[in-house]
Amino acid sequence: MDNFSIAIDGPASAGKSTIAKKVAGNLGFIYLDTGAMYRSLTYIAIKESLSLDNEDELVELLDSIEITFSYEGDRQKVFVNGEDVTELIREKDVTQHVSLVSAHTKVREEMVARQQKIAATGEIVMDGRDIGTVVLPKADLKIFLVASAEERALRRYKESVAKGMDVSLEQLTKELKERDYYDSNRIASPLKKADDAIELDSTHLSIDEVVEIVLKLAVERK
Ligand code: C5P
Repeated sequence: MDNFSIAIDGPASAGKSTIAKKVAGNLGFIYLDTGAMYRSLTYIAIKESLSLDNEDELVELLDSIEITFSYEGDRQKVFVNGEDVTELIREKDVTQHVSLVSAHTKVREEMVARQQKIAATGEIVMDGRDIGTVVLPKADLKIFLVASAEERALRRYKESVAKGMDVSLEQLTKELKERDYYDSNRIASPLKKADDAIELDSTHLSIDEVVEIVLKLAVERK
């Protein structure tokens, strides 16, 4: 029998990673942050001054890199060929360019193949944009997590301020909407709710409330 799998998709900063990590921890499942994989490739491509429009060069670069994760409780670390890129892949430059990189069909094919290989190793919670539609079309539970753009930008703003970053709420809202638009309108596997996904609006819910709902749904389907 296939491993039990949970797909969590949705727009930027809807809380997918936080929720997915907690659900995985609670169930003892593997957690895979697919956004971190696209961010890692984008980070290295910028560092090596590649043209982000050049699909073949990006694929060649991807072939030369191994993206791995480590976990300590709730804390996830991301490594590219052994280098710790956890903080670097969250920087503004990467966030602003990742949608360009992730829009390339051949980049996505390789990423999806890697993600499916990881999913084959055990029970998993995966979050991203195309998990329920492309990566794990047979996932046992599919969640499409949304929240209003204003609420999502506000959450991102508070996180950034807490980290001591100098950001403007207005600018963050604009960038978040642009990234959602780009991710939802690309040709290759755009962000979209799978027909059999359950839509959850977290605008007025706490993290723990969303986690509880997802866990309840998972238990019902197991
Ligand atoms: O989830 P996160 O915001 O870190 O994702 C960064 C970007 O990676 C997204 O804006 C999107 O362009 C891309 N992505 C994707 N497919 C996924 C996960 C992320 O295209 N499964």
